[in-house]
Amino acid sequence: MCGIVGYIGEDEKKEILLEGLKELEYRGYDSAGIAVIDKEHLESFKAVGKLENLIRKTQDFKAPGFGVAIGHTRWATHGKPTELNAHPHLGKYSYVVHNGIIENYQELKKELINSGINFLSQTDTEVIVHLFEKYKEELNDNFEAFKKTIERIDGAYAILLITKDEPDTIFFAKNGSPLLIGFNDKNEVFFASSDTAIIGKANRVYYLEDGEFGYAKKDKVVLFDKDGNLKEINTKPLATDKLSAQKEGFRFFMEKEIYEQSNVVVDTMLGRVLDSEIVFDEIKEGFLDGIDAIKICACGTSYHSALASSYLFERIAKIRCDVEIASEFRYKEPLLSKDTLFITISQSGETADTLEALKMAKRAGLKSLTICNVDNSSIVRESDVALLTRAGIEKGVASTKAFATQTLLLWMFVLYLASKRGVISKEFLEEEIRHLRETPKALKVTDKLHSKIHRLSKRYLHGHGFFFIGRDIFYPLALEGALKLKEISYLHAEGYPAGEMKHGPIALADSELFTIALMPKTLLYEKIKSNVEELSARDATILAISPEPFELADDFIQTKYATHPMIEFFEMMVITQLLAMEVAIRLGNDVDMPRNLAKSVTVE
Ligand code: G6P
Repeated sequence: MCGIVGYIGEDEKKEILLEGLKELEYRGYDSAGIAVIDKEHLESFKAVGKLENLIRKTQDFKAPGFGVAIGHTRWATHGKPTELNAHPHLGKYSYVVHNGIIENYQELKKELINSGINFLSQTDTEVIVHLFEKYKEELNDNFEAFKKTIERIDGAYAILLITKDEPDTIFFAKNGSPLLIGFNDKNEVFFASSDTAIIGKANRVYYLEDGEFGYAKKDKVVLFDKDGNLKEINTKPLATDKLSAQKEGFRFFMEKEIYEQSNVVVDTMLGRVLDSEIVFDEIKEGFLDGIDAIKICACGTSYHSALASSYLFERIAKIRCDVEIASEFRYKEPLLSKDTLFITISQSGETADTLEALKMAKRAGLKSLTICNVDNSSIVRESDVALLTRAGIEKGVASTKAFATQTLLLWMFVLYLASKRGVISKEFLEEEIRHLRETPKALKVTDKLHSKIHRLSKRYLHGHGFFFIGRDIFYPLALEGALKLKEISYLHAEGYPAGEMKHGPIALADSELFTIALMPKTLLYEKIKSNVEELSARDATILAISPEPFELADDFIQTKYATHPMIEFFEMMVITQLLAMEVAIRLGNDVDMPRNLAKSVTVE
């Protein structure tokens, strides 16, 4: 995880770094730091906690005039979130920032300590700067020393290093963690983990590939590929739309993103959902030939959208579909066959476990497809086909609109695949398309609904736990509803298949156990009704979400009668998101940046 920024140029360097870090705070925010070298003068600042603390600490510091600068916002992996463990890490005359994990750092640290070097932090990162300075003394050349340092380290990294010894240069390297270089017409050079940090500053961008490294000066960036060959830098234009990343009057990004769902699903369907056909230009003719099974890997919320789609793949497209949590898949020695399409789902496109699962499937010769929200992300670049969810930048750590667009896109892909396989009729497809087009309406948040949930939320601030229950596709939705609640409210919540409660969890039932029952009318209504009745008989407190009034409910949120389960799914999804958010706000939590979590998890 972590976010890094770098800058070479004449502008106020502190401001550029802090603005960039602000955009990257979603990647980690337990401490932050910056280091600036102008001419031979070297300055650094670090602060524990959110970026605000670093901003306050650097209030009186100015860094105008030409220089090089690097910054970092951290999500702790090795070593506690303390000031000493915050980046940049200092050697004798050089600074480094790093995102990723150096897997062989202990062995390197031992070697460096034996040669008389003192370590200040508990981090894996600190070995980089000491190794660099050691090789600098041996080789008397900064770039050769940097190269040799990179050769010695194993693991995932995006690294920026500056040194007083060459005060106009940033040395950089990338392997496994994201890093890009931004350029503009003023000959300034920017580095960042993600492009939001440099939108409005740079206008062209180059996304580094794994194994690439090099050095940058004011008007010269020299890049080498993983084999050490010089490589030309082919830049792409950088997006300019930063406005969508602002809160626009909502209290939290999460709230804004919940409200945006109705619009972003329209974007997701644009040009893809036609009157009697689903089209994906991204999928080349023949790509799906020979495919007879689907395997999906993902983490967190993305895993829940995958799980929901597995019901649709089998029921509609008549194709076997397995879903696995990426971190489990990686080490189970899975049996993979080439008639399987390997699908990854990821909001960020950088989740380490999902990326590694994808690499494994590719090594086994499988065709790959990703459903992802971030173009040019690592997973997109690694996949044969990428279907972008077009949700726009999602800033709230608790994913909402990404989940909505993933689930919708999966439903669209199921229909696309089903018609390619010839297992659905033209009439069925047209009917499904009619329902697909109802989703924006199902996702609309009305004032009436929001204020009802706001009022209700005050009754759900205590208790000994929540069970979200549902059946079929509403079971993954129950998992997702519970995940949302626990992520931001820190209350214990579980998602459970409704029919399974009697096999154990019902033992917990009493008036302080809150059951959120997803009771759609279009799918297994009578079955879930009796499951909820069983809980009610044990005095559990029931919040029923259903179009059908339910007399045993303690609280009731009425949804609209619909004619398709997916429309009920989306309407109930919004309700669970708003409920989690309102509970968390009442508890005084930072909804957008919940404790211990990060938006993009680039470590395994
Ligand atoms: C983190 C985020 C979750 C997200 C998961 C998978 O844990 O906090 O919100 O669902 O990673 O991320 P991805 O970007 O692959 O969807």
